[in-house]
Amino acid sequence: MTKILMVCLGNICRSPLAEGILKSKLPNDSFFIDSAGTGNYHIGKNPDTRSIAIAKKHGLDISNLKGRQFEVSDFDTFDIIYVMDESNYRNVISLARNENDKLKVNFILNEITPGLDENVPDPYYGGHEGFENVYKMLDEACSVIAKKLLK
Ligand code: 4NP
Repeated sequence: MTKILMVCLGNICRSPLAEGILKSKLPNDSFFIDSAGTGNYHIGKNPDTRSIAIAKKHGLDISNLKGRQFEVSDFDTFDIIYVMDESNYRNVISLARNENDKLKVNFILNEITPGLDENVPDPYYGGHEGFENVYKMLDEACSVIAKKLLK
């Protein structure tokens, strides 16, 4: 079982979308995919209604996901930890206990543009077009990830 964690700040906009998209591209009997936020503001909350709507538009149901905070034990549970932006990266890396923990962490957009450490923009304070933009970026990145993992 390969275990992949998607991480953003709130775990209500970007990472639940990334979780839903990647789940739709990989068989669930050999891949476990989850998401978490570095912040604690939305623990136990369902995804933002705009993320639920954009997922639904693309045939995915993420409405039952629940927000949780990233924890140090996630370094033991997961094989790969994808962060959405540089702030998430710094927060996750600051909790790493050793080099092995750090090696699990990567920017999700590095799957499209390796080494550039590009950010999936935080859509929380914007409008619906921001969510469509985020969806497109994550769908492209998750297609690359799924193709690599299924090889
Ligand atoms: P996310 O978006 O990190 O993609 O889930 C955010 C959600 C909530 C907040 C910030 C970003 N917030 O400040 O409450």
